[in-house]
Amino acid sequence: MPTVLITGANRGLGLEFAKQYAADGWSVIATCRNPIGVGELAQIEGNIAVYGLEILDPASLTRFAADLGDKPIDVLINNAGVYGPKPVKAADVTVADWTPVFQTNAMAPLLVSRTLLKNVKASERKMIVNISSIMGSIEKGAGPSEYIYRSSKAALNMAMACYAEEIAETGVAAVMFHPGWVQTDMGGPNAALTPAESITHLRASIEKLTFTDSGKFFNYDGTPLPW
Ligand SMILES: NC(=O)c1ccc[n+]([C@@H]2O[C@H](COP(=O)([O-])OP(=O)(O)OC[C@H]3O[C@@H](n4cnc5c(N)ncnc54)[C@H](OP(=O)(O)O)[C@@H]3O)[C@@H](O)[C@H]2O)c1
Repeated sequence: MPTVLITGANRGLGLEFAKQYAADGWSVIATCRNPIGVGELAQIEGNIAVYGLEILDPASLTRFAADLGDKPIDVLINNAGVYGPKPVKAADVTVADWTPVFQTNAMAPLLVSRTLLKNVKASERKMIVNISSIMGSIEKGAGPSEYIYRSSKAALNMAMACYAEEIAETGVAAVMFHPGWVQTDMGGPNAALTPAESITHLRASIEKLTFTDSGKFFNYDGTPLPW
């Protein structure tokens, strides 16, 4: 069976990805900042291995990549993300608030992807999936608020669209997905979708991807989204 690697797999969408792929018989590499006492993640049955990975810490990433060795990864899911503070006015934006959100959402997925590219390249499916957001779409999402999160996801989209072109010759594809508005700690209890609904759709959409989709931005149901 194929192998999927998920960042931020201890709760929210990452946990649901791990549950569904494990139930489907995939080999699951579930990563999270602190693998000790990960509750629900530790209880998932199947072919699942849990690793510690703090995506903002280069030493953690280097250690993790060494532990992984040459293991092929069919689908790498850059899921870990943060919302951060929600300034509604430019005057309220601070560099101190903006920086960690930008590092987590926009920069870390590229650093994780480039570190694990050899593993994805060694697989059959060769797919990098980035969990972005419609909030990063300038056409769909721009509004006079939420500067920090919106800009971080727009930057993720651009960084990974550039990377998709750079790695095209390796046969590895990189795509962006909006998961919908989902009932997680980030999405809140009033969100439109349950994690199970979002991830069921996302997995079906990921399953249909081909290399020609590389560099594109999709809704969770597989329909294209504008930048
Ligand atoms: N929920 C929505 O409605 C929605 C909508 C659009 C996009 N998204 C995107 O979907 C992805 C998952 O969101 P979610 O709703 O599942 O959020 P969540 O419930 O807040 O979970 C976020 C996950 O990311 C992990 N994480 C954050 N920073 C990390 C770091 N530096 N290193 C490693 N892991 C880190 C968290 O780990 P800890 O437990 O250690 O903090 C947690 O596992 C995010 O990229 C988010 O932007 C969500």
